[in-house]
Amino acid sequence: MIPTRYLVRNADVDDIATVTQLLQASYPILMKSAYDSAMLAPALELMTRANPKLLSSGTYYLAESEDGTVVGCGGWTRESPGGGTAVEGIGHIRHFGTHPGWTRKGIGRAIFRRCEEDARASGIREFECYSSLNAECFYSALGFERIGVLDIQIGPEVSLTSCHMHYRFRDETERQFLADKEHSEDRNGAV
Ligand SMILES: CC(C)(COP(=O)(O)OP(=O)(O)OC[C@H]1O[C@@H](n2cnc3c(N)ncnc32)[C@H](O)[C@@H]1OP(=O)(O)O)[C@@H](O)C(=O)NCCC(=O)NCCS
Repeated sequence: MIPTRYLVRNADVDDIATVTQLLQASYPILMKSAYDSAMLAPALELMTRANPKLLSSGTYYLAESEDGTVVGCGGWTRESPGGGTAVEGIGHIRHFGTHPGWTRKGIGRAIFRRCEEDARASGIREFECYSSLNAECFYSALGFERIGVLDIQIGPEVSLTSCHMHYRFRDETERQFLADKEHSEDRNGAV
């Protein structure tokens, strides 16, 4: 039987090969609708390598299926992806990916919820994110707002057009309202 359930756990450096494997399975397939190959191919060379510093940060997470297969990844850091100075209260969303066979099952959302929970406990109140163009709909569904579209330098002579997005942490009342809204939309959709 094909497993369909998963758990979210902290990553560590021992997961490096597994995460690289996941990124290599995910990004080329799921990003190709949004980019031409001249821009995507050199970017993928860099983006599909797991980042050991992220894996050992304590704030990078994996979704693991019942049979132990890693099917999703993502996390957050205080530093921006380019290594800029940390700003009090602001966190940066990093390196999200779901296996193409596991998309639209809530894995990205579950990892994001874990990011939000841990970041909130560490005093973070806003997230920023440089989203791939294909993932803008995902971050919008989580409550992010678009700041603008720009080319991000991801390596020497390698850039990727990305969407700069912002997320403001909600207080308990707002969170309850949004959860109820999501629930009622799900119910209406099912009728
Ligand atoms: C973006 C990505 C991580 C989303 O992962 P996922 O596990 O499929 O996301 P979820 O199932 O949690 O989706 C949550 C919501 O986001 C929205 N969403 C996700 N993917 C979407 C898509 N392709 N089109 C429209 N909406 C989408 C939906 O509202 C979805 O809820 P629903 O399925 O109940 O309608 C995944 O598509 C991916 O790995 N993409 C390639 C890598 C990438 O671009 N990563 C981002 C780098 S910044």
